[in-house]
Amino acid sequence: MERPSSVFLILVLHVVLISTSCDSRSERPRKNVALFVFGDSFLDAGNNNYINTTTLDQANFWPYGETYFKFPTGRFSDGRLMSDFIAEYAKLPLIPPFLQPGNHLYHNGVNFASAGAGALAETFQGAVIDLKTQQSYFKKEAARLRSRLGEVEAKVTLSRAVYLFSIGSNDYTSIFLTNSSVLNTYSKPEYVGIVIGNLTATIKVRLSPVLQFLLSRTESYIDNHSKYFWQDVYKRGGRKFAFINLPPLGCLPGIRIIRPDKNSSCLEEASILAKLHNRALSKLLRKSEEQLKGFKYSLFNFNLSLRRRMNHSSKYGLKEGKIACCGTGQFRGVFSCGGKRTVKEFELCENPNEYVFWDSYHLTERVYKQLAEQMWNEASNSSMVGPYTLRDLFQSK
Ligand SMILES: *[C@@H]1O[C@H](CO)[C@@H](O)[C@H](O)[C@H]1NC(C)=O
Ligand SMILES: *[C@@H]1O[C@H](CO)[C@@H](O)[C@H](O)[C@H]1NC(C)=O
Ligand SMILES: *[C@@H]1O[C@H](CO)[C@@H](O)[C@H](O)[C@H]1NC(C)=O
Ligand SMILES: *[C@@H]1O[C@H](CO)[C@@H](O)[C@H](O)[C@H]1NC(C)=O
Ligand SMILES: *[C@@H]1O[C@H](CO)[C@@H](O)[C@H](O)[C@H]1NC(C)=O
Ligand SMILES: *[C@@H]1O[C@H](CO)[C@@H](O)[C@H](O)[C@H]1NC(C)=O
Ligand SMILES: *[C@@H]1O[C@H](CO)[C@@H](O)[C@H](O)[C@H]1NC(C)=O
Ligand SMILES: *[C@@H]1O[C@H](CO)[C@@H](O)[C@H](O)[C@H]1NC(C)=O
Repeated sequence: MERPSSVFLILVLHVVLISTSCDSRSERPRKNVALFVFGDSFLDAGNNNYINTTTLDQANFWPYGETYFKFPTGRFSDGRLMSDFIAEYAKLPLIPPFLQPGNHLYHNGVNFASAGAGALAETFQGAVIDLKTQQSYFKKEAARLRSRLGEVEAKVTLSRAVYLFSIGSNDYTSIFLTNSSVLNTYSKPEYVGIVIGNLTATIKVRLSPVLQFLLSRTESYIDNHSKYFWQDVYKRGGRKFAFINLPPLGCLPGIRIIRPDKNSSCLEEASILAKLHNRALSKLLRKSEEQLKGFKYSLFNFNLSLRRRMNHSSKYGLKEGKIACCGTGQFRGVFSCGGKRTVKEFELCENPNEYVFWDSYHLTERVYKQLAEQMWNEASNSSMVGPYTLRDLFQSK
């Protein structure tokens, strides 16, 4: 009796061992899969909860988060953001904010984004984590990864990781929100050149302060300097980059109301800057692909996707494309959602799922999910995303 039973036990043990090793094999794809997130409030998962800033750049109070999390996480939405859905599609857990307290091992990447941040250090300076600081946090994280996993393994992780960016909106909207006089000093293409220049790396530039700085000039500047593009992340092994271009900034409820006449049209000045930026960005990415060996990217046409939803809401199962769910005043464009900012009064819609805009500048979870789906797998000939989709990036070696 004894022997067969111990044979049985050994057999059982063996089966258990095999099945656990099978399990870990089926989880294997999660090893060396990581998502690093940089940028602004379209992607901030709560970093600004932990910095010294004002409620203008925070969303850690009700009704933010009311739909999905049921508590405010710091995300500028009623629920999840694009990056949260992308993590889900890549079968990763939610990517945590870098500044969350505690001693964490970020196995599957980490989120450095900060609401209000721009590519320029001057943008909402002192209240946000600017792009350069986000990059310095990334350097720290890359060093930690190397000491934990060793050179070789860390290199594999960093080169297979996807680096997602949303940056630029605040560099342009801040001009209108703070009555900045920067456009008296620089022409629009010139200013776009400076923003893009800071996005590429910290390189020395001499931009001639001539007001007639044509777009072709901006583009030739980019031709000359694109080899520096994201050289820092690239230098640390980053190869797969995903970008979200700028929305029609002048049509966000909070920017629309800046017009002195406050009629229903968009603030064209802001949208023109966004348009110049988007043109320069796509050119920069094409150049980078040519010049940097192994550089792969996905560029999402946020502008087109959002405009379609604003103009033809019902086609996307939405009811309201211009008025925000939460806020006050015309289009609920006054940034008062939650009653913790300068203006205390606010209205809150009953069903955020019917709206494109959650608050004066940001979108509802419903729309973020639709956009993330497009980024993940929209046919890459659709002019919505390309040359790669996010799925392509995650699945490639
Ligand atoms: C936070 O910022 C305010 C205003 O800039 C400053 O007065 C205060 O000392 C800062 N607090 C900390 C803890 O840094
Ligand atoms: C910007 O300037 C306009 C007109 O001069 C003024 O009405 C508005 O309050 C100013 N806004 C800020 C944020 O200073
Ligand atoms: C970056 O921005 C600063 C202003 O913040 C500007 O002086 C500098 O020229 C920009 N750098 C590049 C590379 O464009
Ligand atoms: C780019 O480089 C070309 C050739 O070196 C030069 O003629 C041109 O002025 C440069 N453009 C800018 C904007 O620096
Ligand atoms: C809105 O204002 C712009 C610029 O002042 C003007 O051209 C346009 O006709 C106005 N539209 C309406 C609907 O009043
Ligand atoms: C957005 O797309 C529309 C339509 O393709 C275009 O006219 C507009 O200039 C674009 N705006 C931006 C900010 O890219
Ligand atoms: C949306 O509507 C605006 C103004 O009504 C128009 O300029 C723009 O071309 C439209 N965009 C799309 C994608 O239909
Ligand atoms: C995109 O490509 C797919 C497959 O290659 C094709 O079936 C589809 O018709 C294309 N769509 C467009 C808009 O060209």
